[in-house]
Amino acid sequence: MSDKTIHEINRTYWNTYADDWFGVTALPQYGPSFVTEEELNLFGDVREAKLLEIGCGSGHSLKYHADNGAAELWGLDMSSKQLENANNYLRENNYAAKLICSPMEEECGIPKNYFDFVYSIYAIGWTTDLENTFMKIAAYLKKGGVFIFSWKHPLNNCVTIDEDKLLFEKSYFDEAWFTQPMPGENKALLCSRKISTYINALSKAGFIIEEMVEQTDSKTLNEAGEVSDRIKKAKMLPFSFVFKARKL
Ligand SMILES: C[S@@+](CC[C@H](N)C(=O)[O-])C[C@H]1O[C@@H](n2cnc3c(N)ncnc32)[C@H](O)[C@@H]1O
Repeated sequence: MSDKTIHEINRTYWNTYADDWFGVTALPQYGPSFVTEEELNLFGDVREAKLLEIGCGSGHSLKYHADNGAAELWGLDMSSKQLENANNYLRENNYAAKLICSPMEEECGIPKNYFDFVYSIYAIGWTTDLENTFMKIAAYLKKGGVFIFSWKHPLNNCVTIDEDKLLFEKSYFDEAWFTQPMPGENKALLCSRKISTYINALSKAGFIIEEMVEQTDSKTLNEAGEVSDRIKKAKMLPFSFVFKARKL
C-alpha cells in the first residue's frame, strides 16, 4: 500500500472521529497508565521557548504549554477537523497557536533552526516514514533544541494477557502495516516499530538521546485485589514509551 493511500485512510479516520478524541491523549499525560510530565519534568521551564507539536490533535497539549507561559506555539496535523477543534479550543481559552495542516512527512513551510522544543504526544507512530520525519524535526529545531515524543510501546502491540500470564501473539520484529481496530466504524492503518528503529532513526537524524522512559504510573502499579486484565498487563509492561533527545 502506498504512503498516499495510508494518509488518505488515516486522514478520513481523524476527520470523522476527531470529536471522540477531544483531549484524550494530551499532556500532562504521555500515555495511558503512564508517568506524567508533572512527575518527569522533561520540558522544564518553557517560558521564553518556541514549541512545535507534531500531530497536535485537539490542541490540549498546546494549551498545557500555554498555561505554563510558552512564548510561541505551533501545531501541525494532517486532519483539518482536528485543527478546527484545536483552533476553537485555544481561542476559547484566550490562546493562539500557528496551526499547519499537513502530513508530518511533507515539506510544509515550517521554519528551520527555529524551535527550542519539538514534541509529539501519541502521534509520531502514525508516520509512514520515520527517518524522514525525524530529519524534518531536526531541521525545525535550533542547535541544542529538544525533541520529546511519546508513543505506544511495541511490546503492548505484541502481547496479550491470559489469566496471569502474558502471551506473545505477534512478533516484536514485525513492522508491517496493519488495520488497527478503533472506536467507531472506520479503521485506521498503523505499524508497530521496534525500539531500536526509533533509536537508530534518532541517531541518523543527528540527535543524542538524553532519556528514555518506560514506566507504568505508581497508581496502576499499586492497584490491589481483583484488577482488570488491562491493569494486570500494565503492571508487567509499559503501555507507552517517551524519548527525550537533543539536536547536536
Ligand atoms: C492521538 S492524536 C494526538 C493528540 C494530541 N496529542 C493532543 O494533545 O490532542 C494523533 C494525531 O495525529 C494526527 N496524524 C496522524 N497521522 C499523521 C500524519 N502522517 N501527519 C500529521 N498528523 C498525523 C491525527 O490527525 C491526530 O490528530
